[in-house]
Amino acid sequence: MANRTNRRWLLAERPRGPIEDSNFRWVEEPLPEPKGDGEILVRNLYLSADPTQRGWISRDTYLPAVKIGEVVRSGAVGRVERSTSSEYAVGELVQGLFGWQDYAVVPAKGPGAPMKVPPVPIPLAMSALGLTGLTAYFGLLDVGRPKEGDTVVVSGAAGATGSMVGQIARIKGCRAIGIAGGRDKCEWLLREARFDAAIDYKSEDVGARLRELCPKKIDVYFDNVGGPLLDVALAQLAMRGRIVLCGAIATYNDTELPPGPKNYLSLLVNRGRMEGFIVLDYMKRAPEAVMALMGWVSSGQVVDRVDVQEGLENAPRTLRRLFAGENQGKQLLKIADP
Ligand SMILES: NC(=O)c1ccc[n+]([C@@H]2O[C@H](COP(=O)([O-])OP(=O)(O)OC[C@H]3O[C@@H](n4cnc5c(N)ncnc54)[C@H](OP(=O)(O)O)[C@@H]3O)[C@@H](O)[C@H]2O)c1
Repeated sequence: MANRTNRRWLLAERPRGPIEDSNFRWVEEPLPEPKGDGEILVRNLYLSADPTQRGWISRDTYLPAVKIGEVVRSGAVGRVERSTSSEYAVGELVQGLFGWQDYAVVPAKGPGAPMKVPPVPIPLAMSALGLTGLTAYFGLLDVGRPKEGDTVVVSGAAGATGSMVGQIARIKGCRAIGIAGGRDKCEWLLREARFDAAIDYKSEDVGARLRELCPKKIDVYFDNVGGPLLDVALAQLAMRGRIVLCGAIATYNDTELPPGPKNYLSLLVNRGRMEGFIVLDYMKRAPEAVMALMGWVSSGQVVDRVDVQEGLENAPRTLRRLFAGENQGKQLLKIADP
């Protein structure tokens, strides 16, 4: 093996406000050894940048917080380099929470065991066919339950999850309206992802545009960003409207709890429902979603946009891109050639 060093980013301190390089510590350590029965050594190839990592390094969420001094938790795809398990062969591609590091030793069974990667290009396996594709699929269809003819509005629409939500909504016969930051992203939504309408929240009056575009109000609001946009959407909810609480990236860097949504009584007046979900709860049904998404991607009904940065040393900077809206679709970081 050419590279015998494991380069790693450890958590040095919990961020206060936006992520800074000083929140992390770069170390170079000897290669870890798979021990005992059933451990495997994985060479990370691509890391996934996800807004939820901001929560993982701050506090206990749906997973325990990363401890100070631990490697920063991150989704990844890697190649099996050594295996003491009959389940995984050397050379196979696997995905899991392998962290911001070149190499990870992981158990072959039980919690933390990797999943096999479908035989498609790695970026596609980590975007439309990966966790963000699954998030859009189950969040929209299971939690949002759209019906043909419904108006579906999604925030963070040009991002990894949001772009899939609008496209699945369109496939299901709904009107898909996206809210995104900037003219270029809105043009991409209309031209490439074939949304019915797009609103640039940075330069337009979102409330006025929603009133104009949704004369029958919003049947499903898929919320990726929280904050003031959630309030604006609540005010336009249709009778029996559903709000899918997927994420709230607009508030993840806040140092104090954000104010509650002012317009929450719209849920009462309209007999609405606002429901959160975590995609990890749907992993048993992942094959159903992957099959459907693979069909839509192969037939061209769904376009997949991936933004690949390079170099493990750029992990903190790559994560920050999500919060500045610099990512164009699913944000990945390539750290080694497949
Ligand atoms: N519940 C679950 O199981 C689950 C799973 C995966 C992801 N999520 C959540 O889904 C959301 C999207 O995640 P993703 O991985 O698909 O990321 P993404 O949408 O590809 O990237 C994040 C986007 O958020 C937007 N953004 C950043 N700050 C914002 C602000 N202050 N106001 C409005 N928009 C802002 C930016 O787009 P603009 O340029 O348009 O501002 C940025 O491109 C996140 O909230 C994430 O936590 C939840």
